[in-house]
Amino acid sequence: MKKITIAIDGFSSCGKSTMAKDLAREIGYIYIDSGAMYRAVTLYSIENGIFTGTAIDTETLKQRINDIQISFQLNPATGRPDTYLNGVNVEDKIRSMEVSNKVSPISTLGFVRQEMVKQQQAMGERKGIVMDGRDIGTTVFPDAELKVFVTASAEIRAQRRYDELKAKGQEASYEEILANVKQRDDIDQNREVSPLRKAEDALLLDNSHLTIEEQRDWLREKFQSVV
Ligand code: C5P
Repeated sequence: MKKITIAIDGFSSCGKSTMAKDLAREIGYIYIDSGAMYRAVTLYSIENGIFTGTAIDTETLKQRINDIQISFQLNPATGRPDTYLNGVNVEDKIRSMEVSNKVSPISTLGFVRQEMVKQQQAMGERKGIVMDGRDIGTTVFPDAELKVFVTASAEIRAQRRYDELKAKGQEASYEEILANVKQRDDIDQNREVSPLRKAEDALLLDNSHLTIEEQRDWLREKFQSVV
C-alpha cells in the first residue's frame, strides 16, 4: 500500500495529538508532535536565561538555534514517543504551565519557525508520517494527501487539558488553563509567519461533542478513503 503524508492542524488542546498518535500506531506510520519541538525550544530558552519574565533575548537564541537538538524516542511504557532536548528526556517538563505560557511568543519568531520547518520536512521526506501542529497542512507539507483541521470550543479544550494534568497528578487551575488556551489561540492565529489557519483542502473536524473513539473512527475512515 502506498505511504502518504498526514497533516493534522488545529487549536491548542483540541485532542489532535491523541488522534494523530493513535492513527500512526494503528497504521505503522511515524508520529511527530511538532508542538513538542516549539515547546523544547521554549524550555531551552527558559533554562538558559534567554527567556526571562516576558523578554526574549532573540539575538542569543538566533546564535544558539543550531545547538538545540530535538529528537523523539519511543517510550516502551506508554507506547508513545517522548521528546528529547540535547539528549535529555524533557517530555514532562515541556508540558508545564510555564512552558505553555511562553511557547506561543517563541513560536512567532521567524528564524525559529524556519529551523523547525526544515527539520520537520526532513522527518517527512519518505512519507509514512502523521504530523500534528498549526502549520503542517499550510506550510510544512502543503502537498499532504490527507489534511485535517481540528477545532472545539475553548472551554471544552481547557477542561480536557485540566483533566489531563490532574490525571498526571500535576497542580492545575481551570481558569488559568482557559486563559492560556485563549491567549495561545490569539497569538497563533494572529502571528505574521505561518498563522494558524485551515488549509483550503483540509477536512474540518469539530470534536466538541465526540468521544476519543468516535474521533479515531472518523480519522481512520478518512485515511482509508485516501489510500
Ligand atoms: O501543540 P501544542 O499545543 O503543544 O503546541 C504548543 C505551541 O507551539 C502552540 O500554541 C503554538 O504556539 C506552537 N506551535 C506552532 N506551530 C506548530 C506547532 C505548535 O506554532 N506547528
